[in-house]
Amino acid sequence: MIKRPRRLRVSAEIRKLVRETSVTVEDLIYPLFIVEGEGIRKEIPSMPGVFHLSIDMFLMELDEVQKLGIPGVLLFGIPDRKDEAGSQAYDDNGIIQRALRAAKSSFPNLLLIADVCLCEYTSHGHCGVVEAGKILNDSSVELIAKSAVSYAAAGADIIAPSDMMDGRIAAIRSALDGNGYTDIAVMAYSAKYSSSFYGPFRDAAQSKPAFGDRKTYQMDYGNAREALREVELDIEEGADIVMVKPALAYLDIINEVSRYSNVPVAAYSVSGEYSMIKAAAANGWIDEKGAVLEAVTAIKRAGAKIIITYFAKQLAAWLKEDSL
Ligand code: PBG
Repeated sequence: MIKRPRRLRVSAEIRKLVRETSVTVEDLIYPLFIVEGEGIRKEIPSMPGVFHLSIDMFLMELDEVQKLGIPGVLLFGIPDRKDEAGSQAYDDNGIIQRALRAAKSSFPNLLLIADVCLCEYTSHGHCGVVEAGKILNDSSVELIAKSAVSYAAAGADIIAPSDMMDGRIAAIRSALDGNGYTDIAVMAYSAKYSSSFYGPFRDAAQSKPAFGDRKTYQMDYGNAREALREVELDIEEGADIVMVKPALAYLDIINEVSRYSNVPVAAYSVSGEYSMIKAAAANGWIDEKGAVLEAVTAIKRAGAKIIITYFAKQLAAWLKEDSL
């Protein structure tokens, strides 16, 4: 007798009943870029629909984010002044610190996640301290831990280090604890690959390295087992959540990490993933809503509970509609 799997696909109702993975708005985190100034809401050319926001406009954006039911935002700061040591990253009056203070007082229930890295703040665009053309690990970690404490003091709920220096999770955890921030969680960019898919972000953050590349700290995309080692170290050092980045080209890594670890797994669907879909959709080559829903469902199916995506706002609206 012929076996008929199609029976479970005959109607939207039965498809919904048997669907194993559904993304909800509660899974989503929305990344935002904060700039100095007032009244600024400037679209990033390589990321249509994503904006540079001054703090006043950022607060208006948060209002929208909260109304849509998105649980949190991931903040990137673009300072006016960059220097060798990335000093605006850990200045208590830096752009992110001020944004956090403003956001915390107006939106106490939104999760504020502060990305911690030096690349948006250094004149050379590297994620750490540079000496004689080399990226120094331990002195970078010191500044990264200092930034983390400064963000926690300003109101961050979660600290998300994206620098990929060795030992930074332990340093951040002990600096947070030492300053009384024992309840502030660390979401580690644990398996962060050196990726061409970050291109549009580097336009947005003006953080393209002035020389060389990030291959001495970000991971080689040929490696899967190394991701487990990075995850293992980060969990040992105190990471509460581990992240895989990018997402779509790394579904196997998301899956391995989620099987291997027992902490929540996040995946960052990065700027290039966003811009590719946007560009194809703008040309009429792909159905945007369909492609985005399929991509985020695949990321969750692979094992990520938390999905960081520039499509979060659009998704919040689409998820209310019927997609089966
Ligand atoms: C750097 C950082 C990067 C992203 C987030 N934090 C990129 C990089 O390594 O240059 C990329 C995010 C994206 O592409 O959306 N600390």
